Amino acid sequence: MLRLSLVFLLSLGLSSCDSPPIDRELTGVCDDPSMMDVEYFDEVMVGDFFDVHCTVCHSRDLPVGQGVGTRRGAPQSFSYNVHDGAIISPEDTWDRVADRTMPPMGREVSDEEADLLFNWLNCVLAAEQLDGDDDDSATGDDDDSGR
Ligand code: HEC
Repeated sequence: MLRLSLVFLLSLGLSSCDSPPIDRELTGVCDDPSMMDVEYFDEVMVGDFFDVHCTVCHSRDLPVGQGVGTRRGAPQSFSYNVHDGAIISPEDTWDRVADRTMPPMGREVSDEEADLLFNWLNCVLAAEQLDGDDDDSATGDDDDSGR
């Protein structure tokens, strides 16, 4: 009996720090266009999400390296303390958080935090699509034109 309840407590303890993957795909539907603004990123996303989980490694202010006070091997392009470094791949960012390979250690992303990230990434995707549509009226500076 004692042994059974010990096993039960142990499994409870283990499961509470090992949340399942988040089974949700980005939609590109932005519920609140003000989330596309750099101000929203600076004022909300950095403090409420990225500084909590990511910028200890993924920060443009940190030198390349492996030890404490460096990027600890995090790819240089993904820097979540700056807007242009945070939006380079909404898909990769979501995939790594949803499959719980990022952050690689320490605090878990809560459901609330995951929602915050999910909504913001959808607005980043929506903003990309808006940018893409502008190309019709574009200036003709075509990357291939020199070939
Ligand atoms: C303890 C340091 C550390 C933390 C904290 C961390 N990462 Fe990483 N991240 C890494 C390292 C090292 C790699 C490269 C190895 C790998 O891809 O797993 C990486 C890779 C990635 C990649 C893949 C980039 C590519 O080239 O495809 C993404 C996306 C990413 N991290 C997002 C995040 C997000 C979002 C957070 C916060 C929720 C986060 N990481 C937190 C260290 C970290």
